[in-house]
Amino acid sequence: MRLEIANLTKRFGDNVVLDSVNLTLDGINSLVLIGPSGGGKTTLLRILAGLEHMNDGNIIINSHCLNCPEQELLEYRRHIGMVYQAYNLFPHLTALQNIVLPLTQVHGMEKRAAEEHACSLLERFHLAEHAHKHPAALSGGQQQRIAICRAVAIKPEYLLLDEPTSALDPEYTSEVLDLIEELHEEGMELVLVTHEMGFAHNAADYVLFIADGGIAAHGTPKDIFETRENPRVNRFLDKVLKYTS
Ligand SMILES: Nc1ncnc2c1ncn2[C@@H]1O[C@H](COP(=O)(O)OP(=O)(O)OP(=O)(O)O)[C@@H](O)[C@H]1O
Ligand SMILES: [Mg+2]
Repeated sequence: MRLEIANLTKRFGDNVVLDSVNLTLDGINSLVLIGPSGGGKTTLLRILAGLEHMNDGNIIINSHCLNCPEQELLEYRRHIGMVYQAYNLFPHLTALQNIVLPLTQVHGMEKRAAEEHACSLLERFHLAEHAHKHPAALSGGQQQRIAICRAVAIKPEYLLLDEPTSALDPEYTSEVLDLIEELHEEGMELVLVTHEMGFAHNAADYVLFIADGGIAAHGTPKDIFETRENPRVNRFLDKVLKYTS
């Protein structure tokens, strides 16, 4: 993934969340965003997803320029996968139908081909037994894995995930992280917001620490979690790691 952020500014009213942010990265397969609550992680992810407009500046991600007219952003959004904190499955549809719907409705796939593709994905991610269940009959971890399948089914250019495990009971966190890790190992490009520091350490190629109006620190997982040279990041890590063994 190539990412070029130039003078990116995002405000909500008087609240300047991202203030003239600059960053250039290349050759990164998994980018992980960490930082304190309210720092702007979701905002940056939503801008990268083409869901939120920037006030100033520009982002170029791979070959896409994101400071563009709404029509182009709409087209861009069709090519990326997005996974949210709450799984956002349609409650009245089965797991299979949840995956099939965007394929037929948004991507023009024929129903039978879409079902075959969805079934093979469910199979691959060990979810085939849940294909015909409704979300209410699935655990949080299962629902989130279905939501990830749905995002991956469109063969996205990359996958953006916003705290995909934070709404889950701890016992289900690892099954979702395992799936994300599997996708990462298969070469799927990821941008992930997470509070799971262990996962960030292991799975990130590069880490952005989002706070105080921008990217307050960035580096390899080794820089951020081992060398620990940045006092602002260390204060945050000391807090979030206080009760983990
Ligand atoms: N749609 C919106 N309208 C107004 N203010 C917003 C909106 N979305 C975010 N904000 C504000 O922008 C700032 C950054 O919010 P954001 O959700 O990006 O933080 P975050 O880092 O994702 O936090 P968390 O870890 O709690 O999810 C906050 O001050 C928030 O109140
Ligand atoms: Mg957030």
